[in-house]
Amino acid sequence: MITANEYTFKILRYDMKQPEVRPHFSSYRIKVISGLTVLMTLLRIRDEIDGTLSFRSSCRSAVCGSCAMVINGKIDLSCRSQVASFGDSTIILEPLPNLDIIKDLVVDMTPFWNMYEKVNPYIIRKSSEPEKEIHQSEDERKRIDQNVNCILCASCYGACPVLSRDPDYMGPAALAKIERFILDSRDERPLQSLEGINNEKGVWGCDTMLRCIDACPKDVRPIDSIVGLRKTLLKYKAKKIFGMTIK
Ligand code: SF4
Ligand code: FES
Repeated sequence: MITANEYTFKILRYDMKQPEVRPHFSSYRIKVISGLTVLMTLLRIRDEIDGTLSFRSSCRSAVCGSCAMVINGKIDLSCRSQVASFGDSTIILEPLPNLDIIKDLVVDMTPFWNMYEKVNPYIIRKSSEPEKEIHQSEDERKRIDQNVNCILCASCYGACPVLSRDPDYMGPAALAKIERFILDSRDERPLQSLEGINNEKGVWGCDTMLRCIDACPKDVRPIDSIVGLRKTLLKYKAKKIFGMTIK
């Protein structure tokens, strides 16, 4: 038999078009059957109780990255978070930190996308255009497996303590994306292009607090990339000074 338990959803409300109304919580009582996700419950609240509630979603299956938010104090995708898994009859929902609120749980992702765009997130070639696709060996593909899993949900961006004090820091996802292309056997961008992140706004700004690892729903582990990029930059510098070979 399917059972339904009653929950109170407390959702942060704010509308940037009405700045005179300060952020506040609205409460909704709703019965939820076991197995239902936070996102499915939000859709029900919006459709059945309050049509003014705003949040983002699309795939409903942890693929598109649009539904990240803070759920009972922890950043996660609402479409993969089951209401019952919190062991609490009160569920508190807040928008991603470090990004301005547009409305309710919808944040302005522009700073996140700007940082992403800065790293040229596509394969760059120096060689002439290939006539057919460039194959990768299994081992070559394995080198980028972890980074390729990123769904650009910005959970790591919201969790990053450096971004909370310095909005000019590139952030974990953008740095992990650079490493994804540096490691890609098909990419031929010069290591010189890493000079742009060889500073406190780039790889050296990270506090290595590991919050991005906790927040990432896809185990991308951006800090692994940041540490990897630091090593690559140090080797690049050694090569420039001493003529050493980069491996
Ligand atoms: S690295 Fe993880 S948390 Fe960050 S945007 Fe990609 S999937 Fe989301
Ligand atoms: S709705 Fe696509 S990741 Fe949650």
